[in-house]
Amino acid sequence: MRYQLGLIGYPVKHSLSPWIHTQFMEKTGIIGDYSILETTPDSLSKQIEMIRNNGYKGFNVTVPYKQKIIPLLDELDEHASQIGAVNTVVNKDGYLIGYNTDGTGYLRSLTRYYPNLKMDKTKRILIVGAGGAARGIYVALKSSGFHQIDFANRTIENAQSITEGHNKEMNTKILTLEQAEEHTNQYDIIIQTTNVGMKPNPDQKPISLHNIRKNTIVSDIIYQPIWTNFLQEALSYEAAIHHGHTMLLYQAQLAFELWFGIKPPLDQMDQELKQILEG
Ligand code: ATR
Repeated sequence: MRYQLGLIGYPVKHSLSPWIHTQFMEKTGIIGDYSILETTPDSLSKQIEMIRNNGYKGFNVTVPYKQKIIPLLDELDEHASQIGAVNTVVNKDGYLIGYNTDGTGYLRSLTRYYPNLKMDKTKRILIVGAGGAARGIYVALKSSGFHQIDFANRTIENAQSITEGHNKEMNTKILTLEQAEEHTNQYDIIIQTTNVGMKPNPDQKPISLHNIRKNTIVSDIIYQPIWTNFLQEALSYEAAIHHGHTMLLYQAQLAFELWFGIKPPLDQMDQELKQILEG
């Protein structure tokens, strides 16, 4: 049997998902194709019906459809529902179920490189940014038992909209970017989720890290470039580094598990992806 998978988004030019899932299929002996399904906004529902009825095993969803897709699905996993966004859909014989593997994939990658975090949930975490990615990461961290998570964001209301409904158990503080810069020494893990510093503006960063403690884990979900300005500064203060491209691999691994029930081995894909991204 030849399986069909795909990615829906608009525009989708340079996605790494076909490369990642083709590797996964080769490693697990699954035969199939992963196609880019660039979909204009007015053809979204038609495209979903095509996928539903043409034997697709599933598909990924990227901008601008992570929320817009929800009403077109038959069921929403609880985690995706909490986040309010879907990045993976499973097609069970025409019945479409939406999931979100971004936050869980992020957490899987973080604990892969820093395994002590699986046991120690007392770490103090600062999430910089309060967009879709930050929301997924917050929900995943909370679900896994972390309970000291604060936000720093340019627009305070956007962070408030994420923490609403969670604050009884979490007591999450929301800081301005300036306040965060002053208090970075209070955190064990700092996670950068904004798009500040992404190509074509690699010289920018959302906050300075001059106050951090040595060995703070500093994570950036940007993977273009691999060494963001933020991570370069973190390294100069002897922080422990966590790179964004690993989130990409682990969220894809989780999606593949949802489609096929098999966990594909990552082997050297971390290094290979790094080389691809570094050109
Ligand atoms: P994603 O889905 O990748 O998380 P997003 O939902 O557009 O993307 O979120 C972008 C994040 O980057 C937001 O936290 C945004 O801050 P605001 O909530 O204030 O808009 C942040 N961001 C984008 N440009 C920024 C900039 N120039 N300075 C600081 N933060 C910025």
